[in-house]
Amino acid sequence: MADNKETIFSGIKATGKLHLGNYLGALKNWVEMQNSGEYKTIYAIVDLHSITIDIAADELRQNIHDMAIDLMACGLDPEKSIFFVQSHVKEHTELAWIFNCILPVAELEKMTQYKDKAKQHKKNVNAGLFDYPALMAADILLYHATVVPIGEDQDQHVELTRKIVRKFNNHWGKLFEEPKTKMTRTPRLMSLADPTKKMSKDLGEKSYIALSDSADVIREKISKAVTDTGGNKGKVNGGRNLLDLFTAFVDDENITAKFEEDYKNGELQYSKLKPMLANVIINALKPIQAKRKELAKNPDYVTAILNQGAQRARVIASQTMSEVRKLVGLE
Ligand code: AMP
Ligand code: TRP
Repeated sequence: MADNKETIFSGIKATGKLHLGNYLGALKNWVEMQNSGEYKTIYAIVDLHSITIDIAADELRQNIHDMAIDLMACGLDPEKSIFFVQSHVKEHTELAWIFNCILPVAELEKMTQYKDKAKQHKKNVNAGLFDYPALMAADILLYHATVVPIGEDQDQHVELTRKIVRKFNNHWGKLFEEPKTKMTRTPRLMSLADPTKKMSKDLGEKSYIALSDSADVIREKISKAVTDTGGNKGKVNGGRNLLDLFTAFVDDENITAKFEEDYKNGELQYSKLKPMLANVIINALKPIQAKRKELAKNPDYVTAILNQGAQRARVIASQTMSEVRKLVGLE
């Protein structure tokens, strides 16, 4: 890895199954950027972010392991990327604390994700949930990452990270660079069951297609997916969402143009699109599911990969923290 390459960082929580929103909104870019050879790529399973929502210890442990397998099955390659678990590198929390001391509460109060989650988990509005973006900024800046591949819902947190950079640099001396986001063509995939909301694990089985779903389940979910109500200019554009999904997998204008045209004219035949879409998804997921099966047979290998990843991450993170400590006056 040449040193003049830009660094990419992204993270994902260890909460249950990966779905097509995660895959098309973020992971596809993770893998493409990794394979382009143009960047240093660093990816983490952000377990400390995961505990901002109540989760049992055994479930979390299992989720971290499953997520590692899922990510590798999607193409994350530990030979090409640094791949690790956030809590294995203590510097993340250390830098987050420093950021806490320059981050105005008023900025955190503006965060949409915090407001949504606080509503969803009224009995557990903990300080970690509120402070979540400080830790996310630390994740990114510890590695001096300048590009962050994410879905649209995380854009506001990266914007806040840029504010933190400006505040830090003004207050203690120039150290960090402002990171940019990188989004895919599907930065916000909507729920199949309720296309007014983004596809998410929180909305239940019917709203998403998990990367582990069987062919039958995928066919069933797509056939029941809500399309447009009130025409293609109506409020609920599930049809648009299905077409976006199709285009995300079928990157061939010869095939998509006709559907697009029909959709515009309000003549799209879902009885044609839906079975094609289901097949396209089933075929795209086949190799991922096969790789997942192989990796699941060898849990010790996965653990070893994560340990090696943490060692590599620590080298960079401790260097940054040493610079931070000097600037802040802790050393
Ligand atoms: P999470 O599962 O919330 O940790 O999200 C992991 C990544 O997937 C983040 O970069 C999210 O922005 C992205 N993501 C999650 N849901 C969607 C969605 N419905 N559409 C596009 N991207 C998404
Ligand atoms: N907050 C992100 C999410 O909910 C996960 C995340 C944590 C992250 N740290 C990050 C994403 C750093 C990008 C960069 O999906």
